[in-house]
Amino acid sequence: MKLVEFHGSVHTDIPLARFTTWKIGGNTDWMIMPSNFDDLDILMTEIRRTRIPWFILGNGSNVLFSDKGFRGVVITLGTSFKRMSISGDTVRVGAGVTLNHLAQQTAATGLSGLEPLAGIPGTLGGAAAVNAGAFGSSLLDLCIEINGIDSLGVKRSFKNIFSSYRSRVFPDDFIITELQLKLTKDDPSRIHEHLSKYLERRRSTQPLAEASAGCTFKNPENQGTGRLIDELGLKGFQKGQAMISKKHANFIINTGNASSADVVELIDYVRKRVWERFNVKLELEVIILDEYGKGLDPGGDIK
Ligand code: EPU
Repeated sequence: MKLVEFHGSVHTDIPLARFTTWKIGGNTDWMIMPSNFDDLDILMTEIRRTRIPWFILGNGSNVLFSDKGFRGVVITLGTSFKRMSISGDTVRVGAGVTLNHLAQQTAATGLSGLEPLAGIPGTLGGAAAVNAGAFGSSLLDLCIEINGIDSLGVKRSFKNIFSSYRSRVFPDDFIITELQLKLTKDDPSRIHEHLSKYLERRRSTQPLAEASAGCTFKNPENQGTGRLIDELGLKGFQKGQAMISKKHANFIINTGNASSADVVELIDYVRKRVWERFNVKLELEVIILDEYGKGLDPGGDIK
């Protein structure tokens, strides 16, 4: 990589396990953090020139990398993507800010809307890309504008975003850099009360202290994946060191030294069992990548 007038950080041979909540993944050839928009533009130009695979990583809370790592550039967003400003009931926020941090800040200033989403561990960019949600709310429902850059270096802005449950609405090569959200004014103490209630509900039903990537599969319409897997008696079931959580069956836990292959095997197994028993095809919520950045869908071809 030749990055002229680049002000961010450039590292090589970095273990991805350190950057994912599953704590799984071999080394990436490159890990590059543009510190601002111009840096990101320079980096994308170089990526186009070299045709090297790339992946934009937020908090690493919804992704499974390969045991072989990544033969390309993992991009993480630096300081100027971690700012936020509030004006009236509108918030402009960088894609590198975590949802939890934003929810706490907006609650403190008397802006309501993010309380159900506060416990989601991801960054705003990652959460918007997959339309993360909880307790019936989804992030994109609150977004009035999303800005970013595509792999050709074109700055793009999306308004009037139409989204549905856990759907991807932006082009695959679009990097979200900034979001604008419209919230509702309310009393800070009431917002905090709701926020605490949601966090507590999450704590009591989900294995938050263990290494996972949240829910592994989406919920099929009108059904709960956790319940389906639970009904199969699979809580605690393991492939290698990857285990179906004993607390919530849609979570896969790395019990210590799980490999990416262990998790893939478990996903494949669960999907087959759910299909055989309930005739339901589970869709992945997590992103699984091979070492060249190609998306994988283990067990997705069941017939
Ligand atoms: N259930 C079981 N066994 C289990 C887990 C759940 O029987 O092992 C039952 C529960 O008792 C409940 C129903 O299934 O009656 C629904 O469970 P829960 O309230 O835990 O919600 P969920 O549908 O499993 C969804 C989201 C979560 C989000 C929670 C809270 C999906 C795939 N999951 O879980 O999102 O935090 O609601 O609203 O939409 C994530 O996206 O990573 C995630 C964890």
